[in-house]
Amino acid sequence: MSESTPTHKVLFVCLGNICRSPAADGIMHSIVESRGVAAHWKIDSAGTGRYHIGDLPDHRMRLHARRRGYDLTHRARQVSEADFEEFDIIIGMDDANVADLRRLAPSPEAQAKVHAMAEYFAPTARYDYVPDPYYEGSEGFELVLDLLEDSCMRLFERIEEKETPDRQ
Ligand code: 4NP
Repeated sequence: MSESTPTHKVLFVCLGNICRSPAADGIMHSIVESRGVAAHWKIDSAGTGRYHIGDLPDHRMRLHARRRGYDLTHRARQVSEADFEEFDIIIGMDDANVADLRRLAPSPEAQAKVHAMAEYFAPTARYDYVPDPYYEGSEGFELVLDLLEDSCMRLFERIEEKETPDRQ
């Protein structure tokens, strides 16, 4: 397979695509770059809603992410039917995102690509979804980043180790 063809194609989805999913997108990009496998991955994010199409991530999320070394420059977009063709795994941040994605999925095969971010949380996590920080203070944004840093690493390890055991 050529270097330009990604093996793993992951789409992160939240409501507005300005807080949680662009943060997951930025964290996941950072992980694959630091491991030297960015060419094998296609990573993107989208929202189920239309409110913020074209916007940069929320300034509070950009600030908190920047402090951890993530530069979030994604422009918000709405999830489309084509995403269910393009991506192998589509990960909703909370139960509403997952339910919306399942409803939007154009086929049973597409529906099977939909997962919840919480499937990748540590067994000891205090949450079973990624809470919307939009109406929260700084702690809400820090909590989202804590949950996403941990779960993106688990997602990375699960996919890399299970699907490509021969590549080191
Ligand atoms: P996100 O957060 O889904 O994590 O991007 C939100 C952003 C905007 C709104 C809600 C949630 N909003 O209602 O505008």
